[in-house]
Amino acid sequence: MKNTRNFCIIAHIDHGKSTLADRLLEFTGTLTDRQQQDQVLDDMDLERERGITIKSHAIQMAYDFNGELYKLNLIDTPGHVDFSYEVSRSIAACEGALLIVDATQGIQAQTISNLYLALEHDLEIIPIMNKMDMDNAMPEEVEEQIIDLIGCKPGDIIRASGKTGLGVDEILEAIIKRIPAPSGDPDAPLQALIFDSVFNSFRGIIAYFRIINGQIRKGDFVKFFATGKEYNADEIGVLKLVQQPREVLSAGDVGYIISGIKTSREVKVGDTITHVKRPCDKAIEGFTNVKPMVYAGIYPVDADDYEELRASMEKLQLNDASLVFEPESSAALGFGFRCGFLGLLHMEIIQERLDREFDMDVITTVPNVSYKAYTTKGEILDVHNPSGLPAPNYLDFIEEPYISAQIISKSEYIGAVMTLCIGKRGTLKNQIYLTSDRVELTMELPLGEIVFDFYDKLKSISKGYASFDYHISGYKAAKLVRLDILLNGEPVDALSTLIHQDNAYEFGRRMCAKLKELIPRQQFDIAIQAAIGAKIIARETVKAVRKDVTAKCYGGDITRKRKLLEKQKKGKKRMRQVGNVEVPQSAFLAVLKLD
Ligand code: GTP
Repeated sequence: MKNTRNFCIIAHIDHGKSTLADRLLEFTGTLTDRQQQDQVLDDMDLERERGITIKSHAIQMAYDFNGELYKLNLIDTPGHVDFSYEVSRSIAACEGALLIVDATQGIQAQTISNLYLALEHDLEIIPIMNKMDMDNAMPEEVEEQIIDLIGCKPGDIIRASGKTGLGVDEILEAIIKRIPAPSGDPDAPLQALIFDSVFNSFRGIIAYFRIINGQIRKGDFVKFFATGKEYNADEIGVLKLVQQPREVLSAGDVGYIISGIKTSREVKVGDTITHVKRPCDKAIEGFTNVKPMVYAGIYPVDADDYEELRASMEKLQLNDASLVFEPESSAALGFGFRCGFLGLLHMEIIQERLDREFDMDVITTVPNVSYKAYTTKGEILDVHNPSGLPAPNYLDFIEEPYISAQIISKSEYIGAVMTLCIGKRGTLKNQIYLTSDRVELTMELPLGEIVFDFYDKLKSISKGYASFDYHISGYKAAKLVRLDILLNGEPVDALSTLIHQDNAYEFGRRMCAKLKELIPRQQFDIAIQAAIGAKIIARETVKAVRKDVTAKCYGGDITRKRKLLEKQKKGKKRMRQVGNVEVPQSAFLAVLKLD
């Protein structure tokens, strides 16, 4: 145990976490050249392209330092707000963290919130300024930011470059010298923290854990605290580039367990593994059942693909327990699923995976947050869909989720950022100058306002400089009304939204205007109306046009004519017939594109 070091990396997206992690693997001889060509930690296609480590993994390195051999366990953390609970569990499995800051960019909001998590868990922080090879590095300024933030000495900050390898040996030395060895009692009852799990089609679910106390042996009969389920530890081992089975693992170790678990639901991040025979008294603190906060409908473009969509979603769920879904039907869209996501990014990832890995053509409806509806009979209902809101005479009041958001921006943009947040019903809670021209704002905002178009607006008003991070802070009562959209008098359920009553008129007007742009002209006039209850609050009309794409072919070239018709048909695939109106997929997301 005294030669073990468990650490994670805290960094903002693109600040160079993967590159530097690869360097550590290379310096410790964990990688061979061929394997180096691919970054090892980000092994999903999608992750690489999006530059996000979606799920955390772990890897063990062996390092000979002054003639002594050390076991270094790097626990990877997902780098996005939607996964902050998983980050907190990875952090809880470590004694130290590398804080990587891009020397050309400085500290970002996400770095700060994850750093706070690490400090809460008393992790030893090793600050690193990365990308020092770049001409536009600003070491003095970034150094000042880091010192202000964690109160370290200038000499504690390691100057590094994942590209050239600068500082990598210094980092390894710091890991050994500055991060404490794990404490914990190998003779106490087993207490192991699950920080991640992956699905393997041959072996089922593989859970990754860190042993806090006790020992686990191959074949042991173990129990998962939160789920109450019991398993045989068929195989245990450590994670190098591949899994290496072991007979026994002990306090301080990081490893994996395979025990015939079939579904991702049975393995909850943050749960405690203990022995059935000699259980520990209590679970490791910090476990939470993460609940989806953002919901949207997912429908097959082609109604015949419904069963295939279900099968695809089930497969996705195998390695993503945070995805939930249940069948739903919509008058406008037919049969589909109501899906719950951790956040907007999570939703985008699922959409993309359905498209890429399963080749599914889907229509996704406007996302909404999870509301609590209090009925006049004293019930509390979780509402995941505006159309699921109880009738007005039965509804007492609604509560919506609020977030505490951290926004870091150059001071020149603070006015604009503040205006944006206040327009989204936000209130300012705190304001700190990190340096003379960088400000950190803490705002309280309704999550429902963020799911629409907040990120994009924030980026554009700050010329890309503002960074943003948040966590859920609780629920608050709100005056929300359901706004319906009608096409030629027919309500389109998939376009309903819950909106604050003060913004409803303006919102309805903009929705109608946007839909007018998005819905193509057809052979008759189309009335687009926004309504609250029976009251129409806005209206636009799409004028009729007679569209015949083959008209310009003069009836001459038949193959060209056929091609055009086919093209038109294809275009239609992404359309939905609502009453007598054809509505394109983009219209179902109109609310996300309001100016
Ligand atoms: P996520 O996986 O999205 O969290 O990103 P990351 O933090 O792992 O960043 P990654 O290692 O993928 O690096 C982001 C980009 O910066 C890549 O284009 C790297 O090639 C580049 N990069 C990383 N480290 C350095 C460095 O030290 N110097 C220079 N010049 N470029 C670097």
